[in-house]
Amino acid sequence: MIAVTGATGNVGRALVERLTAAGRPVRALTRDPRRADLPDTAEVVPLHHDDPTAPFQGVTKLFLYVQAADLLDAARAAGVRHVVLLSSGIIQDGADETHPIHVMHATVERRLRDSGLEWTFLRPNAFSTNALQWAPQTRAGDTVRGIFADGLSAPIHEDDIAAVAERALLDDGHTGAVHRLTGPEATTNAEQIDAIGRALGRDLRFIEIPPQDAGPELFPNVPPAMVQALVASFAATVGVPPEITTTVEDLTGAPARTFATWSTDHADDFRAA
Ligand SMILES: NC(=O)c1ccc[n+]([C@@H]2O[C@H](COP(=O)([O-])OP(=O)(O)OC[C@H]3O[C@@H](n4cnc5c(N)ncnc54)[C@H](OP(=O)(O)O)[C@@H]3O)[C@@H](O)[C@H]2O)c1
Repeated sequence: MIAVTGATGNVGRALVERLTAAGRPVRALTRDPRRADLPDTAEVVPLHHDDPTAPFQGVTKLFLYVQAADLLDAARAAGVRHVVLLSSGIIQDGADETHPIHVMHATVERRLRDSGLEWTFLRPNAFSTNALQWAPQTRAGDTVRGIFADGLSAPIHEDDIAAVAERALLDDGHTGAVHRLTGPEATTNAEQIDAIGRALGRDLRFIEIPPQDAGPELFPNVPPAMVQALVASFAATVGVPPEITTTVEDLTGAPARTFATWSTDHADDFRAA
């Protein structure tokens, strides 16, 4: 049995869908099973129990979000042997180890290394799903206000991260491995808006605003205390070619999907209901 935390998240949901489609027994852990809307073939159970080992009975492998790391001891006590961690590409040589996003992920990596469990770290850089921050604006009109039009990244499709996680969970040879994951090509923020416009059949326009005007509404899923550090990270991407790895293709056999493909897959998210 494989347990998946963050099962309603972008990556976790894609992973549950992959594992169930492959006929694997999956336990999807979520704080609120009633609104999970996951495949019937997955066993959907609450993340938190009076007995914290209960969600992990019969589980040998775990896909872990850093947000659920407090469950590690219970998972180990219940018999989990291998953990695939959704970490972050921010952890690399020369990184600012005081950056709050670095601290958040490095703390859990360290805990997992010290736990005695087998581990695999997935270190993706920017997710394509970060573009969903612009969806409220594309639903309302054809202009999108944002910061750093020329900021560069190589955004990765959430299902490509899930595809690598699937291999790390099902195949031998991933114990102690660190997989750096990116999309296949560099794109600016303004180009991402163009790609979303093409997917919608509309002419969208990116309007760059000064970074000091970036409020929490631009980062709905980012804890407010982290917004300034994130803005500083984005400033550092302007004109700087991003890291591009071939890990997705190397491990899954399929090339990582472009941002244009992601935009087509998610076009409905950017349309008014
Ligand atoms: N966005 C990026 O560019 C980026 C880059 C590198 C790494 N990452 C990593 O990827 C993660 C985001 O992945 P995603 O986009 O798939 O996530 P997401 O769509 O934002 O979903 C996160 C899921 O985690 C669960 N969760 C949230 N808070 C929790 C808590 N306190 N305890 C237990 N579970 C909790 C929630 O599941 P339930 O509500 O069902 O419980 C939620 O569905 C980040 O947390 C970060 O660690 C992101």
